[in-house]
Amino acid sequence: MIHPSRKRLAHAITTTLAVGGLALTAALPAQAAPATPAAHTAPPKAGNTSPAYNGLALTPPMGWNDWSYYQCNISEQLILDQAKALVSTGLAKKGYNTVTIDDCWMAKSRDRNGNLVGDSTKFPDGMAYVGSQLHKMGLKFGIYEDAGTETCGGYPGSWGHETADAKRFASWGVDYLKLDGCNVPSVQGQSDEETYREEYQKMSQALLDSGRKIVFSESAPAYFQGTPDWYKILQWTPKYGNLWREGWDIALGQDNDKWSSIMANYGYNVPLGAYSGPGHWNDPDFLLAGDSGLTADETQSQVVLWAEMAAPLISSTDLTKLSPSALAILGNADVIAVDQDPAGVQGHQVYSDATYDVLVKPLAGGDKAVVFLNKSAKQQTFTIGSQELGYPAGAKLAAKDLISKTTTPFTSSVSATVPAHGTVMYRVHTTG
Ligand code: GLA
Repeated sequence: MIHPSRKRLAHAITTTLAVGGLALTAALPAQAAPATPAAHTAPPKAGNTSPAYNGLALTPPMGWNDWSYYQCNISEQLILDQAKALVSTGLAKKGYNTVTIDDCWMAKSRDRNGNLVGDSTKFPDGMAYVGSQLHKMGLKFGIYEDAGTETCGGYPGSWGHETADAKRFASWGVDYLKLDGCNVPSVQGQSDEETYREEYQKMSQALLDSGRKIVFSESAPAYFQGTPDWYKILQWTPKYGNLWREGWDIALGQDNDKWSSIMANYGYNVPLGAYSGPGHWNDPDFLLAGDSGLTADETQSQVVLWAEMAAPLISSTDLTKLSPSALAILGNADVIAVDQDPAGVQGHQVYSDATYDVLVKPLAGGDKAVVFLNKSAKQQTFTIGSQELGYPAGAKLAAKDLISKTTTPFTSSVSATVPAHGTVMYRVHTTG
Protein backbone atom coordinates (compact mmCIF):
# COMPACT_ATOMS: atom_id res chain seq x y z
CA MET A 1 0.00 0.00 0.00
CA ILE A 2 1.18 3.45 -0.82
CA HIS A 3 0.87 6.28 1.67
CA PRO A 4 -1.97 8.60 0.63
CA SER A 5 0.38 11.54 0.30
CA ARG A 6 2.06 9.72 -2.54
CA LYS A 7 -1.14 10.15 -4.49
CA ARG A 8 -0.62 13.87 -4.26
CA LEU A 9 2.36 13.72 -6.58
CA ALA A 10 1.35 16.29 -9.18
CA HIS A 11 0.69 14.62 -12.52
CA ALA A 12 2.37 11.45 -11.30
CA ILE A 13 0.93 8.27 -12.64
CA THR A 14 1.13 5.23 -10.44
CA THR A 15 1.13 1.82 -11.90
CA THR A 16 1.59 -1.69 -10.68
CA LEU A 17 4.56 -3.42 -12.18
CA ALA A 18 5.35 -7.07 -11.97
CA VAL A 19 8.99 -6.93 -11.03
CA GLY A 20 11.03 -9.91 -9.96
CA GLY A 21 7.87 -11.85 -9.24
CA LEU A 22 6.49 -9.26 -6.86
CA ALA A 23 3.83 -6.66 -7.40
CA LEU A 24 5.34 -3.29 -6.88
CA THR A 25 3.73 0.09 -7.06
CA ALA A 26 6.01 2.70 -8.44
CA ALA A 27 5.63 6.32 -9.42
CA LEU A 28 6.10 6.89 -13.09
CA PRO A 29 7.18 10.20 -14.47
CA ALA A 30 4.68 12.54 -15.97
CA GLN A 31 4.83 13.88 -19.48
CA ALA A 32 7.44 16.55 -19.92
CA ALA A 33 6.60 19.56 -17.83
CA PRO A 34 5.28 22.42 -19.95
CA ALA A 35 8.03 24.74 -21.12
CA THR A 36 8.48 27.74 -18.85
CA PRO A 37 8.30 30.75 -21.13
CA ALA A 38 9.89 32.80 -18.37
CA ALA A 39 12.55 34.53 -20.41
CA HIS A 40 15.40 36.01 -18.41
CA THR A 41 14.33 34.46 -15.12
CA ALA A 42 16.09 35.93 -12.13
CA PRO A 43 18.80 33.79 -10.59
CA PRO A 44 17.85 32.18 -7.29
CA LYS A 45 19.08 33.76 -4.11
CA ALA A 46 22.63 32.87 -3.16
CA GLY A 47 22.90 29.16 -2.44
CA ASN A 48 22.21 27.86 1.02
CA THR A 49 25.65 28.17 2.52
CA SER A 50 25.09 26.62 5.94
CA PRO A 51 27.58 23.81 6.53
CA ALA A 52 26.51 20.24 5.96
CA TYR A 53 24.98 18.69 9.03
CA ASN A 54 27.58 15.95 9.04
CA GLY A 55 30.38 17.58 7.03
CA LEU A 56 29.93 15.06 4.18
CA ALA A 57 29.13 15.36 0.47
CA LEU A 58 30.75 18.75 0.01
CA THR A 59 30.41 18.08 -3.72
CA PRO A 60 27.43 16.21 -5.22
CA PRO A 61 27.55 12.44 -4.57
CA MET A 62 28.46 10.23 -7.55
CA GLY A 63 28.04 6.53 -8.12
CA TRP A 64 25.70 3.80 -9.30
CA ASN A 65 22.33 2.49 -8.08
CA ASP A 66 20.52 -0.62 -9.34
CA TRP A 67 16.94 0.66 -9.28
CA SER A 68 16.11 2.24 -12.62
CA TYR A 69 17.60 -0.65 -14.60
CA TYR A 70 17.04 -3.73 -12.42
CA GLN A 71 14.32 -2.83 -9.89
CA CYS A 72 13.99 -5.91 -7.61
CA ASN A 73 16.06 -8.28 -9.77
CA ILE A 74 19.19 -7.84 -7.70
CA SER A 75 21.76 -10.12 -6.09
CA GLU A 76 25.18 -10.03 -4.48
CA GLN A 77 26.69 -11.19 -7.78
CA LEU A 78 24.99 -8.46 -9.77
CA ILE A 79 25.98 -5.70 -7.35
CA LEU A 80 29.61 -6.82 -7.20
CA ASP A 81 29.79 -7.25 -10.99
CA GLN A 82 28.52 -3.71 -11.45
CA ALA A 83 31.01 -2.47 -8.84
CA LYS A 84 33.84 -4.19 -10.74
CA ALA A 85 32.63 -2.51 -13.93
CA LEU A 86 32.70 0.88 -12.21
CA VAL A 87 36.36 0.25 -11.48
CA SER A 88 37.35 -1.37 -14.81
CA THR A 89 35.66 1.32 -16.93
CA GLY A 90 37.64 3.98 -15.04
CA LEU A 91 34.42 5.66 -13.86
CA ALA A 92 35.23 5.02 -10.20
CA LYS A 93 38.49 6.93 -10.54
CA LYS A 94 36.56 9.79 -12.09
CA GLY A 95 34.40 10.05 -8.97
CA TYR A 96 31.57 7.54 -9.45
CA ASN A 97 32.45 5.79 -6.21
CA THR A 98 29.26 4.92 -4.30
CA VAL A 99 27.40 1.69 -5.10
CA THR A 100 23.87 1.77 -3.69
CA ILE A 101 21.62 -1.25 -3.30
CA ASP A 102 18.06 0.04 -3.66
CA ASP A 103 14.78 -1.58 -2.55
CA CYS A 104 14.17 -5.35 -2.24
CA TRP A 105 17.49 -6.33 -0.63
CA MET A 106 15.83 -7.35 2.68
CA ALA A 107 14.16 -10.40 4.06
CA LYS A 108 10.39 -9.86 4.28
CA SER A 109 10.55 -9.55 8.06
CA ARG A 110 13.00 -8.53 10.77
CA ASP A 111 14.75 -11.25 12.83
CA ARG A 112 13.43 -12.13 16.27
CA ASN A 113 15.54 -9.37 17.84
CA GLY A 114 13.97 -6.80 15.56
CA ASN A 115 17.05 -6.46 13.36
CA LEU A 116 16.94 -5.92 9.62
CA VAL A 117 18.39 -8.83 7.69
CA GLY A 118 19.36 -9.19 4.06
CA ASP A 119 17.48 -11.62 1.81
CA SER A 120 19.66 -14.71 2.17
CA THR A 121 18.89 -15.94 -1.34
CA LYS A 122 19.81 -12.68 -3.04
CA PHE A 123 22.68 -11.90 -0.65
CA PRO A 124 23.95 -15.29 0.60
CA ASP A 125 27.06 -13.85 2.28
CA GLY A 126 25.18 -11.07 4.08
CA MET A 127 25.20 -7.32 3.69
CA ALA A 128 28.42 -6.70 5.64
CA TYR A 129 30.22 -8.95 3.15
CA VAL A 130 28.98 -6.85 0.23
CA GLY A 131 30.16 -3.73 2.03
CA SER A 132 33.60 -5.21 2.68
CA GLN A 133 33.97 -6.23 -0.98
CA LEU A 134 33.01 -2.74 -2.12
CA HIS A 135 35.47 -1.21 0.31
CA LYS A 136 38.22 -3.51 -0.98
CA MET A 137 37.58 -2.12 -4.45
CA GLY A 138 37.96 1.42 -3.06
CA LEU A 139 34.22 2.06 -3.34
CA LYS A 140 31.60 3.22 -0.87
CA PHE A 141 28.58 1.19 0.22
CA GLY A 142 25.11 2.69 -0.16
CA ILE A 143 21.86 1.10 0.97
CA TYR A 144 18.11 1.85 0.74
CA GLU A 145 15.52 1.98 3.51
CA ASP A 146 12.21 3.73 4.03
CA ALA A 147 10.93 6.12 6.68
CA GLY A 148 7.53 4.43 6.85
CA THR A 149 6.33 1.08 8.10
CA GLU A 150 7.26 -0.61 4.81
CA THR A 151 9.44 0.22 1.83
CA CYS A 152 7.73 1.01 -1.47
CA GLY A 153 8.33 -2.64 -2.40
CA GLY A 154 6.75 -3.95 0.82
CA TYR A 155 9.85 -4.75 2.92
CA PRO A 156 10.26 -3.74 6.59
CA GLY A 157 10.54 0.05 7.01
CA SER A 158 12.49 1.96 9.66
CA TRP A 159 9.43 3.55 11.35
CA GLY A 160 10.04 3.07 15.10
CA HIS A 161 13.44 1.38 14.48
CA GLU A 162 15.56 4.39 13.47
CA THR A 163 18.30 4.07 16.09
CA ALA A 164 18.70 0.32 15.76
CA ASP A 165 18.65 0.45 11.95
CA ALA A 166 21.24 3.23 11.81
CA LYS A 167 23.51 1.19 14.11
CA ARG A 168 22.94 -1.91 12.01
CA PHE A 169 23.91 -0.03 8.85
CA ALA A 170 27.01 1.34 10.57
CA SER A 171 27.99 -2.19 11.64
CA TRP A 172 27.73 -3.32 8.01
CA GLY A 173 30.04 -0.52 6.87
CA VAL A 174 27.33 1.47 5.14
CA ASP A 175 28.54 4.87 3.89
CA TYR A 176 25.32 6.23 2.31
CA LEU A 177 21.65 5.78 3.17
CA LYS A 178 18.75 6.56 0.83
CA LEU A 179 15.66 6.85 3.04
CA ASP A 180 12.51 6.65 0.92
CA GLY A 181 9.10 7.93 2.05
CA CYS A 182 6.47 5.31 1.20
CA ASN A 183 3.97 4.14 3.85
CA VAL A 184 4.58 6.87 6.42
CA PRO A 185 1.52 6.62 8.67
CA SER A 186 -0.66 9.64 9.35
CA VAL A 187 -0.37 10.70 12.98
CA GLN A 188 -3.34 12.21 14.72
CA GLY A 189 -2.95 15.86 15.65
CA GLN A 190 -0.16 16.66 13.22
CA SER A 191 0.18 17.33 9.53
CA ASP A 192 1.87 14.85 7.23
CA GLU A 193 4.62 17.39 6.71
CA GLU A 194 5.28 17.42 10.48
CA THR A 195 5.26 13.63 10.61
CA TYR A 196 7.80 13.38 7.78
CA ARG A 197 9.91 16.08 9.44
CA GLU A 198 10.01 14.21 12.75
CA GLU A 199 10.80 10.94 11.07
CA TYR A 200 13.61 12.26 8.88
CA GLN A 201 15.01 14.19 11.81
CA LYS A 202 15.06 10.99 13.87
CA MET A 203 17.01 9.11 11.25
CA SER A 204 19.30 12.08 10.69
CA GLN A 205 20.17 12.07 14.40
CA ALA A 206 20.40 8.28 14.52
CA LEU A 207 22.96 8.34 11.71
CA LEU A 208 25.00 11.01 13.52
CA ASP A 209 24.93 8.82 16.65
CA SER A 210 25.72 5.61 14.78
CA GLY A 211 29.47 5.93 15.10
CA ARG A 212 29.98 6.02 11.32
CA LYS A 213 30.00 8.86 8.82
CA ILE A 214 26.99 8.19 6.61
CA VAL A 215 25.76 10.38 3.76
CA PHE A 216 22.00 10.85 4.15
CA SER A 217 19.68 10.99 1.12
CA GLU A 218 16.11 11.98 2.04
CA SER A 219 13.22 11.25 -0.33
CA ALA A 220 10.66 13.23 1.71
CA PRO A 221 10.04 16.13 -0.72
CA ALA A 222 9.08 13.74 -3.53
CA TYR A 223 5.98 12.78 -1.54
CA PHE A 224 4.76 16.38 -1.46
CA GLN A 225 5.53 17.50 -5.02
CA GLY A 226 2.78 19.78 -6.27
CA THR A 227 1.59 20.77 -2.78
CA PRO A 228 2.43 23.93 -0.79
CA ASP A 229 4.19 21.73 1.80
CA TRP A 230 6.82 20.88 -0.84
CA TYR A 231 8.61 24.15 -0.12
CA LYS A 232 8.28 23.69 3.65
CA ILE A 233 10.02 20.35 3.33
CA LEU A 234 12.76 21.78 1.14
CA GLN A 235 13.49 24.22 3.97
CA TRP A 236 14.39 21.41 6.36
CA THR A 237 15.95 18.75 4.15
CA PRO A 238 19.27 20.68 3.97
CA LYS A 239 19.44 20.67 7.78
CA TYR A 240 18.93 16.93 8.21
CA GLY A 241 20.63 15.40 5.22
CA ASN A 242 22.98 15.71 2.28
CA LEU A 243 20.67 15.26 -0.72
CA TRP A 244 17.02 14.70 -1.42
CA ARG A 245 14.77 13.51 -4.19
CA GLU A 246 12.24 16.25 -4.82
CA GLY A 247 9.99 14.60 -7.34
CA TRP A 248 9.04 12.04 -9.92
CA ASP A 249 11.12 8.96 -10.53
CA ILE A 250 13.18 9.00 -13.72
CA ALA A 251 11.97 6.48 -16.33
CA LEU A 252 12.38 2.85 -15.39
CA GLY A 253 14.14 0.38 -17.69
CA GLN A 254 10.98 -0.66 -19.49
CA ASP A 255 9.52 2.81 -20.01
CA ASN A 256 9.92 4.16 -23.50
CA ASP A 257 9.52 7.90 -23.09
CA LYS A 258 12.81 8.54 -21.41
CA TRP A 259 13.46 11.93 -22.99
CA SER A 260 10.21 13.39 -21.62
CA SER A 261 11.10 11.92 -18.23
CA ILE A 262 14.50 13.66 -18.33
CA MET A 263 12.88 16.95 -19.36
CA ALA A 264 10.25 16.64 -16.61
CA ASN A 265 12.85 16.06 -13.90
CA TYR A 266 15.06 18.84 -15.25
CA GLY A 267 11.97 21.10 -15.21
CA TYR A 268 11.15 20.60 -11.54
CA ASN A 269 14.77 20.66 -10.38
CA VAL A 270 16.12 23.72 -12.19
CA PRO A 271 14.25 26.41 -10.16
CA LEU A 272 15.37 24.97 -6.81
CA GLY A 273 18.95 26.27 -6.71
CA ALA A 274 18.35 28.20 -3.49
CA TYR A 275 18.14 24.93 -1.54
CA SER A 276 21.37 23.51 -2.89
CA GLY A 277 24.99 24.00 -1.81
CA PRO A 278 28.03 22.17 -0.47
CA GLY A 279 26.80 19.28 1.70
CA HIS A 280 23.15 19.48 0.61
CA TRP A 281 21.97 18.87 -2.95
CA ASN A 282 18.80 18.67 -5.01
CA ASP A 283 18.53 15.22 -6.60
CA PRO A 284 16.52 14.91 -9.84
CA ASP A 285 17.21 11.14 -9.89
CA PHE A 286 19.36 8.73 -11.87
CA LEU A 287 21.41 9.12 -15.04
CA LEU A 288 20.19 6.84 -17.82
CA ALA A 289 23.37 7.01 -19.96
CA GLY A 290 23.90 3.64 -21.62
CA ASP A 291 20.25 2.67 -21.48
CA SER A 292 18.18 2.10 -24.62
CA GLY A 293 15.57 4.60 -25.78
CA LEU A 294 17.73 7.72 -25.88
CA THR A 295 19.80 9.19 -28.73
CA ALA A 296 23.45 10.00 -28.04
CA ASP A 297 22.51 13.71 -27.96
CA GLU A 298 19.73 13.08 -25.42
CA THR A 299 22.09 10.98 -23.31
CA GLN A 300 24.65 13.75 -23.43
CA SER A 301 22.02 16.35 -22.52
CA GLN A 302 21.02 14.58 -19.33
CA VAL A 303 24.59 14.40 -18.05
CA VAL A 304 25.32 18.01 -19.05
CA LEU A 305 22.12 19.35 -17.45
CA TRP A 306 22.66 17.36 -14.26
CA ALA A 307 26.26 18.65 -14.06
CA GLU A 308 25.08 22.23 -14.67
CA MET A 309 22.55 21.80 -11.84
CA ALA A 310 25.22 20.39 -9.45
CA ALA A 311 23.05 17.28 -9.21
CA PRO A 312 24.25 13.95 -7.86
CA LEU A 313 25.62 11.89 -10.78
CA ILE A 314 24.23 8.44 -10.06
CA SER A 315 24.18 6.06 -13.00
CA SER A 316 21.49 3.39 -13.11
CA THR A 317 22.20 1.14 -16.04
CA ASP A 318 24.14 -2.03 -16.87
CA LEU A 319 27.73 -0.84 -16.59
CA THR A 320 29.11 -4.10 -17.97
CA LYS A 321 27.56 -3.24 -21.35
CA LEU A 322 28.22 0.49 -21.65
CA SER A 323 28.77 1.60 -25.25
CA PRO A 324 31.96 3.60 -25.91
CA SER A 325 29.74 6.63 -26.52
CA ALA A 326 27.86 6.29 -23.19
CA LEU A 327 31.14 5.74 -21.38
CA ALA A 328 32.66 8.85 -22.95
CA ILE A 329 29.60 10.89 -21.96
CA LEU A 330 29.59 9.67 -18.35
CA GLY A 331 33.35 9.97 -18.07
CA ASN A 332 33.86 13.45 -19.59
CA ALA A 333 36.22 14.91 -16.97
CA ASP A 334 35.49 18.52 -17.96
CA VAL A 335 31.74 18.02 -17.47
CA ILE A 336 32.31 16.16 -14.18
CA ALA A 337 34.47 19.08 -13.01
CA VAL A 338 31.52 21.44 -13.55
CA ASP A 339 29.30 19.18 -11.47
CA GLN A 340 31.91 18.78 -8.76
CA ASP A 341 32.99 22.41 -8.73
CA PRO A 342 33.88 23.34 -5.13
CA ALA A 343 31.75 26.50 -5.15
CA GLY A 344 28.75 24.15 -5.26
CA VAL A 345 26.36 26.58 -6.94
CA GLN A 346 23.44 25.14 -8.89
CA GLY A 347 23.21 26.56 -12.42
CA HIS A 348 20.13 28.67 -13.19
CA GLN A 349 18.25 29.64 -16.33
CA VAL A 350 19.07 33.05 -17.78
CA TYR A 351 16.79 32.40 -20.74
CA SER A 352 13.95 29.95 -21.33
CA ASP A 353 11.31 29.62 -24.04
CA ALA A 354 9.52 26.71 -25.68
CA THR A 355 12.50 25.98 -27.96
CA TYR A 356 15.59 26.48 -25.87
CA ASP A 357 17.06 27.31 -22.50
CA VAL A 358 20.35 28.93 -21.55
CA LEU A 359 21.78 28.19 -18.12
CA VAL A 360 24.70 29.71 -16.23
CA LYS A 361 26.61 28.15 -13.33
CA PRO A 362 29.23 30.32 -11.63
CA LEU A 363 32.35 28.28 -10.85
CA ALA A 364 35.07 28.67 -8.23
CA GLY A 365 37.79 30.97 -9.53
CA GLY A 366 35.44 33.08 -11.66
CA ASP A 367 34.74 30.91 -14.75
CA LYS A 368 31.12 30.22 -15.71
CA ALA A 369 29.64 27.06 -17.18
CA VAL A 370 27.11 28.03 -19.86
CA VAL A 371 24.67 25.48 -21.30
CA PHE A 372 22.45 25.80 -24.36
CA LEU A 373 19.65 23.21 -24.37
CA ASN A 374 17.74 22.65 -27.61
CA LYS A 375 14.31 21.32 -26.61
CA SER A 376 13.13 21.20 -30.22
CA ALA A 377 13.29 18.27 -32.62
CA LYS A 378 15.55 20.01 -35.15
CA GLN A 379 19.06 21.42 -35.08
CA GLN A 380 19.18 25.14 -34.33
CA THR A 381 21.71 27.90 -33.70
CA PHE A 382 21.22 30.00 -30.58
CA THR A 383 22.94 33.19 -29.43
CA ILE A 384 23.12 34.89 -26.05
CA GLY A 385 24.60 38.24 -25.10
CA SER A 386 27.59 38.41 -22.75
CA GLN A 387 25.74 40.76 -20.43
CA GLU A 388 22.94 38.21 -20.06
CA LEU A 389 25.63 35.80 -18.90
CA GLY A 390 26.59 38.33 -16.25
CA TYR A 391 29.65 39.93 -17.89
CA PRO A 392 30.24 43.68 -18.18
CA ALA A 393 29.96 45.26 -21.64
CA GLY A 394 33.21 44.98 -23.58
CA ALA A 395 34.62 42.06 -21.57
CA LYS A 396 37.01 39.90 -23.60
CA LEU A 397 35.93 36.30 -23.22
CA ALA A 398 36.58 32.77 -24.49
CA ALA A 399 34.28 29.75 -24.52
CA LYS A 400 35.72 26.24 -24.32
CA ASP A 401 33.26 23.66 -25.65
CA LEU A 402 33.53 20.89 -23.03
CA ILE A 403 32.51 18.18 -25.50
CA SER A 404 34.51 19.07 -28.65
CA LYS A 405 37.26 20.81 -26.60
CA THR A 406 37.52 23.71 -29.06
CA THR A 407 37.89 27.25 -27.67
CA THR A 408 36.31 30.30 -29.33
CA PRO A 409 36.99 33.91 -28.36
CA PHE A 410 34.01 36.27 -28.13
CA THR A 411 33.01 39.67 -26.77
CA SER A 412 29.40 40.83 -27.11
CA SER A 413 27.67 37.46 -27.61
CA VAL A 414 28.27 33.74 -27.97
CA SER A 415 26.45 31.26 -30.24
CA ALA A 416 26.02 27.51 -30.33
CA THR A 417 24.68 25.18 -32.99
CA VAL A 418 22.80 22.53 -31.06
CA PRO A 419 21.35 19.26 -32.41
CA ALA A 420 17.77 18.19 -31.68
CA HIS A 421 17.35 17.55 -27.92
CA GLY A 422 21.05 18.30 -27.58
CA THR A 423 23.14 20.58 -25.42
CA VAL A 424 26.31 22.57 -25.86
CA MET A 425 28.28 23.21 -22.67
CA TYR A 426 30.86 25.98 -22.61
CA ARG A 427 33.29 26.88 -19.88
CA VAL A 428 33.68 30.64 -20.25
CA HIS A 429 36.67 32.58 -18.96
CA THR A 430 37.82 36.17 -19.30
CA THR A 431 40.89 36.80 -21.44
CA GLY A 432 41.56 40.42 -20.71
C1 GLA B 1 10.55 4.88 -5.06
C2 GLA B 1 11.83 5.66 -5.30
C3 GLA B 1 12.72 4.92 -6.30
C4 GLA B 1 13.03 3.53 -5.76
C5 GLA B 1 11.73 2.78 -5.45
C6 GLA B 1 11.99 1.47 -4.75
O1 GLA B 1 9.75 4.83 -6.21
O2 GLA B 1 11.55 6.95 -5.77
O3 GLA B 1 13.92 5.63 -6.53
O4 GLA B 1 13.83 3.66 -4.62
O5 GLA B 1 10.86 3.56 -4.63
O6 GLA B 1 10.82 0.80 -4.44
